[in-house]
Amino acid sequence: MPSTPKTKTTPWKIRDATALPRDVEFLELMLCEAAQWRPGDKARPTSELLADPNVGHYITGWPQPGDFGLADTVAGEPIGAAWCRKLTRLDPGYGYVDDDTPEVVIGVDGAWRHLGVGTALLGGLIDQAARRGLRSISLSVETDNPALNLYSRMGVAPTEASDNAVTMIRLLSPSGKR
Ligand SMILES: CC(C)(COP(=O)(O)OP(=O)(O)OC[C@H]1O[C@@H](n2cnc3c(N)ncnc32)[C@H](O)[C@@H]1OP(=O)(O)O)[C@@H](O)C(=O)NCCC(=O)NCCS
Repeated sequence: MPSTPKTKTTPWKIRDATALPRDVEFLELMLCEAAQWRPGDKARPTSELLADPNVGHYITGWPQPGDFGLADTVAGEPIGAAWCRKLTRLDPGYGYVDDDTPEVVIGVDGAWRHLGVGTALLGGLIDQAARRGLRSISLSVETDNPALNLYSRMGVAPTEASDNAVTMIRLLSPSGKR
């Protein structure tokens, strides 16, 4: 991971996360960050977490047809990633809405948070989804995760809540515009 000093003006670059085969390792790490986001959580090893089918199905076989995603990079090395995977009624994710709505996974390396990386990634992902003609993308977030603010700010709206998590949906314009 690059360790350049970080400021609001750090020039990261955004690129397609399906482009490089080695991206999958970084995406797996970010999936684990998203699954164990709470500071102080006892971290399960990556291999154990990915072997859990409820987690692993967000990345298995990346990229599969229909997958799309973005990575933010500094000096060519990824610092954050966001992607969409369509899971179905037969194998739904935590943020499942319907078979036509892919679910979002997003994670930014701990050293690079709160600098706008996540905002850029989610905005880019929304644009990509709209350009693909999708009507919506969804996600699930625990109610005490501050990422909720980011989602609300980006027009992702709650649709269903359980005790400790909320399913959120971002409706997309058929014109392909945000
Ligand atoms: C959520 C996440 C992707 C945001 O990325 P980021 O690069 O830090 O996001 P930005 O700098 O663009 O925006 C910061 C936003 O993140 C949110 N945020 C996430 N975690 C936060 C924290 N610990 N403290 C404060 N804000 C936090 C805030 O809403 C903030 O938005 P605001 O400035 O409007 O309040 C990143 O914090 C992360 O990887 N967290 C761990 C994994 C995770 O929780 N993924 C989502 C699971 S549903």
